[in-house]
Amino acid sequence: MNRRRLGPNIEWLGSIDWNRRLFDALIPTPHGTSYNAYLVRGQDKTVLVDTVDPAKKDDLFHQLAGVERLDAVIIQHVEQDHSGALPDVLDRYPDASVLATPKAVSMIEDHLGVPAERITPVEDGETLDLGGEKLEFLHAPWVHWPETMLTYVRGQRVLLTCDLFGSHLATSSLFASGDDRMLPAAKRYFAEIMMPFSSAIRGYLNRLESGRYPIEMIAPSHGPVVDSPETILSAYRRWTGDDTQNLVVIPYATMHGSTGRMVDHLASALTERQVAVQPFDMAITDLGDLAMSLVDARTVVFAAPAVLVGPHPAMVTAAYLVGALRPKFRVACVIGSYGWACQTQERIESLVKRPNLEWLSPVLIKGQPRKETWEALDRLADEIADRHAAA
Ligand code: FEO
Repeated sequence: MNRRRLGPNIEWLGSIDWNRRLFDALIPTPHGTSYNAYLVRGQDKTVLVDTVDPAKKDDLFHQLAGVERLDAVIIQHVEQDHSGALPDVLDRYPDASVLATPKAVSMIEDHLGVPAERITPVEDGETLDLGGEKLEFLHAPWVHWPETMLTYVRGQRVLLTCDLFGSHLATSSLFASGDDRMLPAAKRYFAEIMMPFSSAIRGYLNRLESGRYPIEMIAPSHGPVVDSPETILSAYRRWTGDDTQNLVVIPYATMHGSTGRMVDHLASALTERQVAVQPFDMAITDLGDLAMSLVDARTVVFAAPAVLVGPHPAMVTAAYLVGALRPKFRVACVIGSYGWACQTQERIESLVKRPNLEWLSPVLIKGQPRKETWEALDRLADEIADRHAAA
């Protein structure tokens, strides 16, 4: 694929990875992804913003054919899916410097082997005049690593955001308006990558919406370019905000059926009380689907059978992920069946590690569920419904 034009002096480069189905040996990417880079030209200088995953560097070099000089490569984020081709780009353009945040300097050395002498740190708010076009760098730590920054192309009113506002979506559409899968893909991406950093992102949204940065396009380094920025900005406002929905998410595992029957009963009891419920069997669940549901959930119920005396390993994974992703639910509970002894509750709580979380009394039973189990689950459904009604 050749370079594609975003505006008079800015072009998309990159690679569409149609077949990638897993990221970081963890995150499912059912719709593939892309690694986007951008070429910005002024009258005096030409810069490349980000590169591509090293496995796709040939695509980038094909697109750089005819670009005789690069004055700088701007590395907004050091993770290798964006920076991995940097050493090859610097070999080809020996006069190009690397611009990145001060925090990124040692990370570029460590992750890519590029010597610090080649890297020029840029401060927050610093500008780079290309001649008739000006770039402004906005430090934005934790979207997604601590060294990240955004680049505002003032003349074009284009904001380059690397991971922020991105989506794992392989599409032939350059612009999001050409593919209505973008917003669901962006929500999945937010849930998997950005949700732990919601508080920082709210601050960046305030800055971007302060009036100082009129934006006509948001150009992330995954997925299509967002040509109606309000779509993604308002979605991020919702996703990073405190509001939750009347929704209970139940990650669960079941071995001989007892915990599964408890989940079925609780799901029915919640439904009868007009509480929406989404159970996820961790043996078969796409972790991205679970993460997406957590963006909106008001309550999470961990349904775990015991393996030996602790939670089933699939539920250890679920609890660890919920803790790591830091969704905004406020109520939690543990239910499940065990064989002879049980430390499920305390181990799951220690994995979730969330302050200000209300843990309802668990429903943990020895062996098969019985009449008292169904009654306890009905009481749990009442408690959850009451809290949702009061929210
Ligand atoms: Fe797409 Fe954090 O890299």
